[in-house]
Amino acid sequence: EQIMKGNYEHYMQKEIHEQPDSLTTTMRGRLTSGEGGKPKGVVLGGLKEHVDTIRRSRRIIFIGCGTSYHAALASRQIIEQLSGVPVTMELASDLLDRQCPIFREDTAVFVSQSGETADTLLALEYAKKRGALCVGVTNTVGSAIARGTHCGVHINAGAEIGVASTKAYTSQIAVMTMIALALGQDSISNREMREAIIDDLLRLPEKVREVLKLDEAMRELARELVNEQSLLVFGRGYNYATALEAALKVKEVALMHSEGILAGEMKHGPLALVDETMPIIVLATRDAIQQKQQSVIQQLLARKGRLIIVCTEGDSVKMCPSGKAKVIEVPHIADCLQTVVNIVPLQLLSYHLTVLRGFNVDQPRNLAKSVTTE
Ligand code: G6P
Repeated sequence: EQIMKGNYEHYMQKEIHEQPDSLTTTMRGRLTSGEGGKPKGVVLGGLKEHVDTIRRSRRIIFIGCGTSYHAALASRQIIEQLSGVPVTMELASDLLDRQCPIFREDTAVFVSQSGETADTLLALEYAKKRGALCVGVTNTVGSAIARGTHCGVHINAGAEIGVASTKAYTSQIAVMTMIALALGQDSISNREMREAIIDDLLRLPEKVREVLKLDEAMRELARELVNEQSLLVFGRGYNYATALEAALKVKEVALMHSEGILAGEMKHGPLALVDETMPIIVLATRDAIQQKQQSVIQQLLARKGRLIIVCTEGDSVKMCPSGKAKVIEVPHIADCLQTVVNIVPLQLLSYHLTVLRGFNVDQPRNLAKSVTTE
């Protein structure tokens, strides 16, 4: 076992630090950089023959559980933007509870690291029966979801052993971004945007390597937060998914109450929780909606909120002129990929919190890596 963990103490730690490599493997052979006369683009073998059908579908439904659902949520906007098809989100169990209407003109995308999650698998059978085109995004070749879907893309992140998903999350987002690019491939109007995203996908492993240098700073932050009862995480836009995923990590491994909050909903309840003691992480990296997050920060500080701001390198003063917050600076990348960079320090934070609190990192109590019963 120690051999498999290499120089790391836990699988989760190893898998967090492995992400520059797992992301590289996820993208290998799938992106053309524009060199050697080939146009910049994406090749996804498992999807090729179905791209037109997906593009013509009435809606795309993303279905998953846990971290896989969050990865889908993180990719929703770029898929909508580049494909022009509306995307709806479904937690597999809820889709089944509601008996959600699904039609032949729908594309249902099943996101699952293991490819074996019972609820997701049942949702697949349900959608198939109703005639939807079913696409699988899994990490496990030959898994039930990979076999049961009409087509799909493997994320190739390598085996993930820690119960809390880390590298699968970032690779799922990379794959879904490539799916968005494939769906938008024929459109002239968004060509520049697609090319910029391809450039940033190719830069992504390097950016993740950079952000991993925050390891020690995150251990330090974990020391400050180790005895807290609760931790809130505010995000919006692409980083709503980051907020939910960060809170899930803290909850599942560090066994600390944590809640991911859509910052746009702040005034509809969460603001009542703000005081000098409750730690709040605010995701406020540079993107199309940064100004709105800037105003959220001001409003939280006006209520004496105890903030930890995650912002883009060089933006500390802009985001917190009063200096009355702790700031974590991360490298900048395209809006749709920023969540991949942003989640890494928060994965590290949850890891260190768990170790400091003395809990089992790789096998949190009551949880299983793959939930194969309803
Ligand atoms: C379990 C795992 C999570 C995972 C979820 C969905 O709860 O502990 O890490 O996100 O199942 O699993 P899947 O294999 O379908 O992605």
